[in-house]
Amino acid sequence: MIAFPSFPGSTLRTLTVLAALLTGLASMTIAPARAAGSAAEADPATASAPISPALAATARTVAAQVCSSCHGGNGISVSPEFPILASQQRDYLAAQLRAFRARSRAEPDAHDYMWGMATMLDERLVEPLAAYYAGQPAAQGRPGDPALVARGDALFHNGLPERGVAACSGCHGADATGNTVFPRLAGQHAEYLTRQIVAIQGKLRDSPVMHGIVRELKPDEIQALTAWLASR
Ligand code: HEC
Ligand code: HEC
Repeated sequence: MIAFPSFPGSTLRTLTVLAALLTGLASMTIAPARAAGSAAEADPATASAPISPALAATARTVAAQVCSSCHGGNGISVSPEFPILASQQRDYLAAQLRAFRARSRAEPDAHDYMWGMATMLDERLVEPLAAYYAGQPAAQGRPGDPALVARGDALFHNGLPERGVAACSGCHGADATGNTVFPRLAGQHAEYLTRQIVAIQGKLRDSPVMHGIVRELKPDEIQALTAWLASR
């Protein structure tokens, strides 16, 4: 974990702001009314339902006042400790917020930073926050070492058939922009992506689909893949 000097105090402030916002939300007239923190999971059939203007506005406020302290303004974080959320797939974002809440995403940084946040988050804000970040313009890619990037490009699109590693593009898309629950990887911080691949290899992050695919990847292959992805 990289230094985040003001972390304990700022988490406390963040949680206080979040609590205040959620208390306000609880008193808003949103039908059907549901107690804050009841954590009733959304009906998948309504997961991509349109979002009311009132909830969209609350989500923007929470994003600006709470999430931005780590994920940056408009979801483009500066530090690679924090993933970029801008232009991420909506369904994927909502699924992750629920995975933090369910504790099935359990790598150390998820535990340290996101468990408390997701637990406090009202279920009614999960889809509006996901939609907000999905709608923000994508971060610009950052160029990497050309040889490494070229190797990563080939690995991403071809996989390693001789070792049974599927092509990443088959699920994440040829341009790595993702689709529904398959996350966008393009333009993400390389350090963050590396941490996630290692967490999935070690099953700290519970992802049965990804586990079998990345299990065999070696550190230099992960380095090439993430260099290409960050450059997109
Ligand atoms: C104190 C810092 C902090 C705050 C505030 C914060 N996050 Fe996070 N968030 C993190 C870290 C660190 C991770 C990466 C966790 C990991 O490595 O598993 C993360 C991961 C995520 C992810 C997963 C992204 C991905 O690509 O899988 C989502 C979604 C997310 N946060 C949403 C939010 C939302 C919405 C808010 C505001 C309600 C918020 N976060 C507030 C630190 C923070
Ligand atoms: C069979 C489909 C599939 C293939 C092939 C696949 N992935 Fe994934 N990947 C997923 C799914 C689904 C998730 C979301 C997992 C979750 O919900 O926790 C994911 C998540 C990820 C994440 C975490 C992103 C984040 O924001 O935290 C990374 C990094 C990743 N994949 C990299 C790769 C790489 C590199 C390859 C190729 C070696 C690859 N994936 C191949 C389905 C796939």
